[in-house]
Amino acid sequence: MCQEQKGFTLWFTGLPCSGKTAIADRLAQVLKERGLKVERLDGDVVRQSLCRDLGFSRHDRDENIRRVTFVAKLLTRNGVAVLTSFISPYREIRDEARREIGDFIEVYVKCPLEVCMARDVKGMYQKAIRGEIKEFTGISDPYEEPLQPELILETDRETIEESISKVLNYLRQTGYLEDNT
Ligand SMILES: Nc1ncnc2c1ncn2[C@@H]1O[C@H](COP(=O)(O)OP(=O)(O)O)[C@@H](O)[C@H]1O
Ligand SMILES: [Mg+2]
Repeated sequence: MCQEQKGFTLWFTGLPCSGKTAIADRLAQVLKERGLKVERLDGDVVRQSLCRDLGFSRHDRDENIRRVTFVAKLLTRNGVAVLTSFISPYREIRDEARREIGDFIEVYVKCPLEVCMARDVKGMYQKAIRGEIKEFTGISDPYEEPLQPELILETDRETIEESISKVLNYLRQTGYLEDNT
């Protein structure tokens, strides 16, 4: 019988426009090409489906992450490579996700606020600065940096491909990915 793939969750956290979605989407493709079972859980998608009823208060942000944690836990224990991309600004709830999921790799997608603001993919920073969006992380809501993430990707200094290589190397070193894949 062939060996069962060991599941894990790559938990991408960082400011809006830091590059979570771009990196996780591309990495998901790469892992699929290597034959892994892969699922993506992305903030924008989840907030239109599973968490449609939630806003951006501390309470609702925590509830958002709790629901995602529940799903990621089920997938992880069934041998899936789960890639989540959520701002997930609060340390306490990320630590709760870590405890629940177990095979949990926290990836801090690090990028200076000025660079994120210049990218402003969806024009949200501009709206937040004009006061049209309340509770916007980085402008009017806090972001608590990870203290001991497994990985830090510095997206103002490395390309998406370099960031992906870092993650793949980590997965190989920790045995989640076979050397020959
Ligand atoms: N090195 C890099 N890593 C990740 N994204 C980058 C990088 N350089 C430029 N970008 C761009 O920055 C934007 C990040 O947006 P996105 O991935 O949607 O951010 P987030 O999901 O964190 O809000 C994308 O348009 C991406 O192509
Ligand atoms: Mg995103």
